[in-house]
Amino acid sequence: MEHYVVKGGNALVGEVEIAGAKNAALAILAASIMSDETVTIENVPDVSDIRVLVQAIESIGARVGHPDRHVYTINGAEIKDLPVDNALIRKIRGSYYMIGALLGKYKHAQVALPGGCAIGLRPIDQHIKGFKALGADVRVLKGGLLGAGAENLHGAHIYMDMVSVGATINIMMAAVMARGTTVIENAAKEPHVVDLANFLNSMGARIKGAGTDVIRVSGVERLHAAEYAIIPDQIEAGTYMFAAAATKGDVTITNVIPKHLESISAKLKEIGCEIEESDDALRVVATGRLKQTNVKTLPYPGFPTDMQPQIAVLLGLSKGTSIVTESIFESRFKYVDELMKMGAHITVEGNTAIIDGVEGYTGASINAPDLRAGAALVIASLAADGISEIHDIHFVERGYEDFPEKLRSLGGEIIKVSSEEEEEKAIRRFQLRAV
Ligand code: UD1
Repeated sequence: MEHYVVKGGNALVGEVEIAGAKNAALAILAASIMSDETVTIENVPDVSDIRVLVQAIESIGARVGHPDRHVYTINGAEIKDLPVDNALIRKIRGSYYMIGALLGKYKHAQVALPGGCAIGLRPIDQHIKGFKALGADVRVLKGGLLGAGAENLHGAHIYMDMVSVGATINIMMAAVMARGTTVIENAAKEPHVVDLANFLNSMGARIKGAGTDVIRVSGVERLHAAEYAIIPDQIEAGTYMFAAAATKGDVTITNVIPKHLESISAKLKEIGCEIEESDDALRVVATGRLKQTNVKTLPYPGFPTDMQPQIAVLLGLSKGTSIVTESIFESRFKYVDELMKMGAHITVEGNTAIIDGVEGYTGASINAPDLRAGAALVIASLAADGISEIHDIHFVERGYEDFPEKLRSLGGEIIKVSSEEEEEKAIRRFQLRAV
C-alpha cells in the first residue's frame, strides 16, 4: 500500500504556492450544473475529492471538459434524472451539495448520503430542515439515498439551530431558483460560503449578505454561463504555516488571502513566530522553541476545526502546557494516539486535549486517521528526529495537491512509496544524504 516515508529534522525553507480551496471547489462544481450554459471554473485543486465529485457530475449526464489541470468546463443542459451514487461518492462529504444543486434546478434530487472524514456523527438535519422549509419533501430512500422533491420551491425564513457550513451552502443552492426570497439566519460565514455566493451571483443569482450571519437569496428564473476562479485554500495555507513553525523554518506562502488566515496568524504570533504579511502572501519564521497557548475551535472567523490537529502537533513541541478544545466535531482527537507513538505527552478528556510540550518527537510508524490529522502527522514527522512511515495516505490525498512534492521543494525529506522495495530505497537515499 502507498505510504509516505519521512526523514525529519530539516527546517522548511523557501516559497510554496497554495492551490484553490477544496471545500469551495466542491460546492462550486456542484452548483455549476445549475446552468444550462457552459460554466468555466479555474483554480480547481487537483485532489481526489474533486475528481470523485466531477465523476459523479459526469455520471448524471453533465458535459465536463478538463482543458487544464486546474480548469473544468461544465455544461448541465443534458442532465438525466438519475441518482447520484457510486462507491466513491459515498465516501466524500461534498457529495451532499448535489442535493441542493439538483433540487434547486430540477426540484428533484436523489443522492447517496454523504461520507467524509470520520470525525463525528455529522448529521444533516439542518440541511433537511432547510429543504423542507423551502417546500420540499425529503426522505431517506432504499439503498441509503436521500430523496428530495418539490412541486414548487418557495422562499422561506430559516433559522439554523447551529452554524453549519454544509447546510448554509445547500440551502443557498436550493433557494437560488425558488420563487420569492429566502432568508437564512445564523448562517455560516466561512470564506467558501462567500465564494459560492459570489460564483452563483456571477451566474445571475441574487444573493446578499454572504459572509455575515444573515443571507438573503432572491429567486431568479435561470442561471447563465460564467467564468470563475476559486479562492485559495485557507486550510492548505494554514497547514504550511504550521509546518514552517514546527520545523523552525522560514516559509513564504503565496497565493493566499491573508484575511482568511487571521486566526491562524494570531496564534502563531502568540506563541513566538514572526509573520510578515503582504497582499497575497505570508511569511512565517520560527526560531527557537515556541511557547504554549490555549485554543478553541469555532466557526469562522474563529480558529478552524480543520486546523486543530496541526496546531496540536505544534503545541506538542512548545514549551509549557497547552489546552486545545474542539467545539465543532466530537471525535477529532483520533490522531493523538499516533502522535503519542512519536513521544508527545497529551491527555484527552472529552473535547479537550491537554498537551505538555516535549523537546522533540521521534520517528515512528503511524496511521493517518483522517484528512487533516494525516497532514498534521506529516508535520510531526518532518519535525521529528529519525524516520517515520505514514500509512493511509489516501486520506491526505483527498485534500492536499502535490503534498510531498511541495514539502520537498521546501527541503522536507518525504517520499511516497508503494512497496517495501521502494521504501528501502527511500531510506537508503535519506541515509546517503545524511553522510
Ligand atoms: C465543512 C467542511 C469541513 C469542516 C467543517 C467545519 C466541507 C466539504 N467540509 O463540513 O472540512 O471541518 O465544515 O468548518 O466543506 N451539524 C448538525 N446538523 C447539520 C449540519 C451540521 O448537527 O445538519 C453539526 C455538525 O455535526 C458539526 C457542526 O454542525 O458539529 C458543523 O458542521 P458543518 O459546518 O455542517 O460541517 P460540514 O459542512 O460537514
